[in-house]
Amino acid sequence: MKSRLRNHRRGISAASTTLVLALVTFAAPIPAASAANAAAWSASTTGVIAAYTIVVPTSISKSRLQARAVIATGTPCPTLNVVSQSSSNAVAGHASAASSKRSIAMQMRTPGSTTDAAFSSIRACQANLPSGVASATVGKTSLPANLPAKIGKIAILGDTGCRIKGSAVQDCASTVAWPLAQVSRSIANDKPDVTLFVGDFHYRESSCPSDLSGQCGGSPEPISGLPFKDTSYSWLADTFLPMASLLSAAPILAGRGNHEACDRGGNGYSLLFEIRANAAACAPTTSGDAPKTIDPTWAVDLPITSSRTLRTVVLDSATQPSSGDSELTSWAAVQRPFYRAAQTLSAKKSGRESWLLEHRPLFGIEAVAAGTPSSWESVDQTAAADGLTGNFNLLITGHAHLAEVAQIPGQPAQMIFGNGGTKLDEGEIKLPSQGPLRDSSGQPLSPLYPAYPNATYLWGKLKFGYAIATPLAGAGQWRFSLNDASGRRYETCLAAAKNVRCK
Ligand SMILES: [Fe+2]
Ligand SMILES: [Fe+2]
Repeated sequence: MKSRLRNHRRGISAASTTLVLALVTFAAPIPAASAANAAAWSASTTGVIAAYTIVVPTSISKSRLQARAVIATGTPCPTLNVVSQSSSNAVAGHASAASSKRSIAMQMRTPGSTTDAAFSSIRACQANLPSGVASATVGKTSLPANLPAKIGKIAILGDTGCRIKGSAVQDCASTVAWPLAQVSRSIANDKPDVTLFVGDFHYRESSCPSDLSGQCGGSPEPISGLPFKDTSYSWLADTFLPMASLLSAAPILAGRGNHEACDRGGNGYSLLFEIRANAAACAPTTSGDAPKTIDPTWAVDLPITSSRTLRTVVLDSATQPSSGDSELTSWAAVQRPFYRAAQTLSAKKSGRESWLLEHRPLFGIEAVAAGTPSSWESVDQTAAADGLTGNFNLLITGHAHLAEVAQIPGQPAQMIFGNGGTKLDEGEIKLPSQGPLRDSSGQPLSPLYPAYPNATYLWGKLKFGYAIATPLAGAGQWRFSLNDASGRRYETCLAAAKNVRCK
């Protein structure tokens, strides 16, 4: 076990010491020589493995924020301690600090009993953050406490975990080959007001091949016989250790990718990041199958100025019955009501602009090997959304492991930020010979879903990193700084109304 943990630590060298200690504490017996130190550490941190803040709709929390904490099983949920903004000012003015503090009980989130031992090591806790909070802590850990009254900087990333699937192995021990911890630090250095995550946290879906132990030796592996791939340990390795600095920097709107479908990493997502109370939504049925769930579409408003608001509409496109997404199937009809809900939530209103956030792109292209024709992906979602995107300014997704902008005439620009750390696509990013929802001979795929004209603009890059979006003066105008893992800008894209162009 110790060598396994060493390998984790090598692959996530930037992760916080507190989190690494936490992993050691509950994953391995404590040697006698270090028992005293461990006991002192445990007492000082109240056993909190991670504390973070997720963005939720006002129907769940009036402040749009909910605190989460990950704890070891067997320990009680900690309290969420907050200092209100007005009282904080009073403290600065030498008034009494005692009246400014509040303690809020956190409620336990419990994984489903049918997840067997996969999540027996941890529990999650939740409590809504009140509005007007200046600072918040769980144990000794600070967590993002508020959304500012005017949002000025938004970080966007997706597709982040270290890929281990059969013989397809990313070098999880290399911070160059898997730079998520560096991406996370760079985002924290940029001090965003909020982070938008466009899905695909979890990628440790196989055991590490014995001949590749230098790359992924000791990686947490799935429990054989269960109809899903994740465990508490794989979520620590893929998310909480490498993303510690990101999670402490700003509230995260944590979208769900196909890697969080219930037959993959959905149990961890339900426990840790799902906005609703049901932490067991993905637990296997009594007949031993993984459920096929689609979470309801929801929205949250991010004010830009007193007369301008960004409405982010969050749609779940994680689940799909077939493994591929390049064919039109009956799933399009299943998914379509969720796009109708997105259309309703994005209804036009003065001063409001809307982005659709989901995982699968509606107008996206994966990189292909040289000489191979490219094609539009996520065909079921493109069909499901057909005719329902007119209220949106931008479509923001992940799924393809690259950064990309595609512009279909008459449609909101598609922006893809699936370059957050998972092994990048390889090959060329090039325009297909036909528009979305047409076959390779140019004929519509279905009489039910009108085909689109081909894109008039395509930009793409195979490079790790993330985006920082900042609003410009005019309504619907944004600057997207595309930064590499070290935080250096490599491209600037400007959005105006529904159009995006990169320099
Ligand atoms: Fe992905
Ligand atoms: Fe994906």
